[in-house]
Amino acid sequence: MRMHPLDLIEKKRDGYRHTKEELDFLVAKFNEGEMAKAQMAAWLMAVYLRGLDLTETAYLTRAMVESGLKVDLKAIDEPKVDKHSTGGVGDKTTLVVVPLAAAVGIKVPKLSGGALGHTGGTLDKLKSIPGFRTTLALDEFIAQVLDVGAAIGSQTGELAPADKKIYALRDKTATVSSIPLIVASILSKKAAAGSRKIVIDVKTGTGAFMPTLAESKELAATLVAVGNEIDLNVECIISDMNQPLGLAIGNSVEVKEAVDCLGGGGPPDLRELSIEIATRMVLLGGLADGRESALAKVESALATGKALSKFQEIVLAQGGETAFLTDASSLKRAPGHFVIKAEDDGWLAVDNCRALGEAATLVSGRIHDEGEIDLGAGLVMKLKAGAEVVKGSPLVDIFYTDELWLPQAKELVSKALTVVPEKPDDRALIYDWRS
Ligand code: URA
Repeated sequence: MRMHPLDLIEKKRDGYRHTKEELDFLVAKFNEGEMAKAQMAAWLMAVYLRGLDLTETAYLTRAMVESGLKVDLKAIDEPKVDKHSTGGVGDKTTLVVVPLAAAVGIKVPKLSGGALGHTGGTLDKLKSIPGFRTTLALDEFIAQVLDVGAAIGSQTGELAPADKKIYALRDKTATVSSIPLIVASILSKKAAAGSRKIVIDVKTGTGAFMPTLAESKELAATLVAVGNEIDLNVECIISDMNQPLGLAIGNSVEVKEAVDCLGGGGPPDLRELSIEIATRMVLLGGLADGRESALAKVESALATGKALSKFQEIVLAQGGETAFLTDASSLKRAPGHFVIKAEDDGWLAVDNCRALGEAATLVSGRIHDEGEIDLGAGLVMKLKAGAEVVKGSPLVDIFYTDELWLPQAKELVSKALTVVPEKPDDRALIYDWRS
């Protein structure tokens, strides 16, 4: 019987399960431009409302993997472990964790993407390092992992291209926050990139794609279960995204903060989460026989400066200048500077972390222009949520080039932050994990 997208949209709309052939058909037709965007959009909304079970999600993931090239990482011996974040505000852990795990002996072939929605992207952060090349040929990428222990390259559009096309439509149809769609999106890219073992940081809160802890736990459990179905060993951490991670949100400002952390300083939350992710990578890679010894190896790599040296090696191998490692002023910084100040005495609360990500996106020019991102623009918080403030004290630095976007960015920051009369309860940084 001939398949038609309309029948499959109806089938999901009415709550029935798809077969493997049906999901292969939908993904292939859409990827090849033979299915109307309107039909894919309708099917995505049907999935958003009706869901996909684990088997369907695994079929969808496989179909998306098959939509493009698949990287073969067999040339790289074990222990190799990848890391991924579901996306957040100020999340620069890749810049810390990749050299940190590599300094302990894990091989980390990391393919990263650009920014999604209000969240930042590792590639843009790396581009703010003068000379750093993110576009590596596959043989060059593999050779660097063998030689240095890690490489961070750009995820080419040739890997899981169906995800890119489907994601663009989800972004415009209010269907991003669907658990099976997120799982298929993340795991298809990871499987196509050749990963077999992966630690995923599932973000939860107002700055994440999953705002509630219950949904984030379900996302983590689904990532692990679908990973099992498609031969990926997935371990998830569930971490807080109700406020930015660390203090910096942007590109060059985040690189500076990551270097501070690799140097043994930096904000405590960034340090704690990076150590946790690297420790799990060391365990998953089999380089330690228990959590305590994995943690000791990771902490020692930070304390001895080995992790920072590994970052330097990665930067050099990818053509970057390394002056910024000792002199942050060699990183780009947008010329405009505006300070948001407290309007009352009290305690700082972050009500809407997403709005901070949107403000950083706005000043970087990503929202209004297909062209260059202003890598030196961004926000730097002066304080974490729960800190005591007095009226008139600085809360956030906004760095910008184009003044046009400043009023809107200020408005977003004001929407995100309040000064409350009572100290808010401290939040956990890491809520849970799944494996
Ligand atoms: N990250 C992805 O790669 N895809 C999603 O759908 C959400 C976060």
